[in-house]
Amino acid sequence: MNIVDVDYDGLIPNNVGLGSDERVKRALEKWHPGYIDWWNDMGPDGFQSSLVYLRTAVSVDPKGWAKFDYVKMPDYRWGILLAPQLEGRKIAFGAHKGEAAWQEIPGEYRAMLRRLIVIQGDTEPASVEQQRYLGKTAPSLYDMRNLFQVNVEEGRHLWAMVYLLQKYFGTDGREEAEALLQRRSGDPDTPRMLGAFNEKTPDWLSFFMFTYFTDRDGKMQLEALAQSGFDPLSRTCRFMLTEEAHHMFVGETGVTRIVQRTCEAMKEAGISDPYDITKVRKLGVIDLPTIQKKANLHFSLTLDLFGNEISTNAANAFHAGLKGRFREERLQDDHQLEGGTYPVLRLKDGKIEKEDSPALSALNMRLRDDYVVDCNLGVSRWNKVIEQTGIQFQIKLPHVAFHRHIGEFSRTTADVDGNVLSPAEWTERRTDFLPSAQDKDYIESLMQPQWEAGKFAGWIAPPKVGIDNKPGEFEYVKIA
Ligand SMILES: [Fe+2]
Ligand SMILES: [Fe+2]
Repeated sequence: MNIVDVDYDGLIPNNVGLGSDERVKRALEKWHPGYIDWWNDMGPDGFQSSLVYLRTAVSVDPKGWAKFDYVKMPDYRWGILLAPQLEGRKIAFGAHKGEAAWQEIPGEYRAMLRRLIVIQGDTEPASVEQQRYLGKTAPSLYDMRNLFQVNVEEGRHLWAMVYLLQKYFGTDGREEAEALLQRRSGDPDTPRMLGAFNEKTPDWLSFFMFTYFTDRDGKMQLEALAQSGFDPLSRTCRFMLTEEAHHMFVGETGVTRIVQRTCEAMKEAGISDPYDITKVRKLGVIDLPTIQKKANLHFSLTLDLFGNEISTNAANAFHAGLKGRFREERLQDDHQLEGGTYPVLRLKDGKIEKEDSPALSALNMRLRDDYVVDCNLGVSRWNKVIEQTGIQFQIKLPHVAFHRHIGEFSRTTADVDGNVLSPAEWTERRTDFLPSAQDKDYIESLMQPQWEAGKFAGWIAPPKVGIDNKPGEFEYVKIA
């Protein structure tokens, strides 16, 4: 099957021939009402009858895959879209390297694969839940629309994973698909599976940091799963990555626009010291040190998503050919990693040191390293904006040992430069590194809705270009 166009005739848009797959079609149609209930209960609060200028995928052709139109979110056509099957695709790594990619799941890998799919699937609805109330304080209709676009696409990503569960995992898959609708972000009894997806996203700076840092973890995981020897998983992840790019765009440009507005306001007011927080806040913009603290928070929470630096699960998934490395095809080695080492940061006698570890066990560390490199690209673009205004300040990612709850550094208390502090010292200096209650209150005080078309809240600059090349005064959301 090599379908590029999406079939929009049935209840569930798809390019997987659902029309001739009665069993899976029925299973998904049965799951559909529960999904809509979940969306209505946990999706954007208060905007379900508003018309939103959204993009919907009409094809999986990278050129021209989406169309834009006004849609009420509950009517969004969530569908199942796989990137086209590549003729003769081979498994690129692990013990099965060189074999034809699997169209069905090898029995011995079923449990491992199901776990990978469920973990990925669980993050998708979680972020929608975390962002549920942000529409109410949107700094513009443009930003509100971007939030909702991210939300409906995370909903679609849930569909993507649920399709795999329903099609390939029988009864277990059905149960997992149900459970994905039952867990709730931050719920003490039925939380989402991963820590960062149970945190709050209370304000728009958090939202932009989340889409910059945490959606980028999503990108890394999807890149690794796009390598999978299980071809349907690879294809679904490849298409998800097309959508994911927009989420990170929203995050990166969101932070850029905040930084830009802050620097411009400081210049206009003749303030050159970024640490003169009282003065800067009087201008109604977010001071740069607080932006840094938010970055510290979201970066460190996201690093935890990569799991333990040394991991048997990661080694097994790679060895089995289920989850590869970031851009596996560009790496110059045997793609099996039976020998060879990778440098891993370890905590040794209270000190942070590099240690060569077996490469196969160090795959989480490696993906995390690739992630940090990717994160730094956008950070340097933020710094360019600051530099252009002549203000002396640089945003810097904290050390990977800072504020960790999983892995090697969960056992220590390091500062943002990686110096190990005593727990008491760390607690005392906590608000030097992470947002304080006052910082949170101040940001919250700025979160006043600006819903007039073409207008922006005072703490964020307008974007350079509109979505779908729309002019500045375009009404991205018709609030009803
Ligand atoms: Fe996603
Ligand atoms: Fe995303």
